[in-house]
Amino acid sequence: MKKIALLGAGFIAGVHMEGWKRVEGAEVCAFFETNLEKASAFQDKYQIPHYNSFSRLLEEEKVDIVDICLPTFLHREYTEMAASHEKHVFCEKPIALTVEDAEAMKRICERSGVGLMVGQVLRFWGEYVKARELVEEGAVGKVLSVDAFRLSLPPTWSVDSWILKPELSGGAAVDLHIHDLDYVNWLLGEPQVVFAQGVRSPQNSWDHMVTVVNYGGVIAHIEGGWMMRGDFPFTCGFRILGDEGVLEWSSRAGVNIEEREKTSPLVLYRNGEAKKEMEVREEDPYYLELEYFLDCIENNKPVERGTPEQAILALRLALAARQSAEEGEKVKLGE
Ligand SMILES: NC(=O)c1ccc[n+]([C@@H]2O[C@H](COP(=O)([O-])OP(=O)(O)OC[C@H]3O[C@@H](n4cnc5c(N)ncnc54)[C@H](O)[C@@H]3O)[C@@H](O)[C@H]2O)c1
Repeated sequence: MKKIALLGAGFIAGVHMEGWKRVEGAEVCAFFETNLEKASAFQDKYQIPHYNSFSRLLEEEKVDIVDICLPTFLHREYTEMAASHEKHVFCEKPIALTVEDAEAMKRICERSGVGLMVGQVLRFWGEYVKARELVEEGAVGKVLSVDAFRLSLPPTWSVDSWILKPELSGGAAVDLHIHDLDYVNWLLGEPQVVFAQGVRSPQNSWDHMVTVVNYGGVIAHIEGGWMMRGDFPFTCGFRILGDEGVLEWSSRAGVNIEEREKTSPLVLYRNGEAKKEMEVREEDPYYLELEYFLDCIENNKPVERGTPEQAILALRLALAARQSAEEGEKVKLGE
């Protein structure tokens, strides 16, 4: 049985807790949280020991894996603490706010001989996984262009509204947009040039982005932001255009993805054929990514989905998009 220490008792920690409960061979043995109200609600619900000091948790509990569900500006500090105590680390996306921090996280985990996986959850999300498999099998022929989008209301749950402060979260340009940037990297490989335009919030945060990326001739157009208004439902999706077909999927699932079952089918269109609704694995992708990490750790397999390298590439692209929006110029990656 692997023992998990969960860091944070906020929004995504609750999602992870539900996921860990279903992962065979794993048990959340304790959680760390500094906000007393959040801590007591979490403890009432899950009945697991609470610590307001991570060092004390590490001293008192026998832990194998540390699951970091803390605000992004804390990811490096807690990864370093966990790795230096030889604990494996699962860290929520974005890996960090700067490439320098992210590289340091990768280095310390390598040096300490512990695993590091980043929760780039679209790599486990049924429709995204299936669409990539179909692309690999040639279902749309040669990919010419990818559109992806993710739109929501401003997040309201974060403690002290840390997520709305660009210096703590990176803004939607980094926090939310990174999901689709990582997915398009997964489909198309190394991004080469990015041009983005965006909208800034009153806190000067790039919170709505329209990003165009060139992957050596194949183009991607990615829209992401959390400036929607009223009852606008959480909306995400993609369209993959190839020279032989098109794959399309979209979802408008409640205000905060709580109605995930209300998504539309993944559809394949090809000339001369009736449109086909594709079968997709229906399983909670957050559970799947945690189960995957546990399997990697337990069976000494390398992490291949959600690697630090993939997370760093996604972060570099998000930062380049933000820079492009700021400067009004194209930004070349790798320079
Ligand atoms: N993969 C996904 O779909 C997804 C979705 C939401 C959030 N996230 C990521 O998960 C991480 C946490 O986001 P969240 O939405 O759960 O945030 P949240 O604000 O709901 O939760 C963060 C928790 O960390 C605690 N915390 C501990 N020390 C803190 C400190 N010094 N300052 C502020 N909070 C502190 C807070 O009290 C809170 O309970 C972020 O990196 C975010 O980008 C990922």
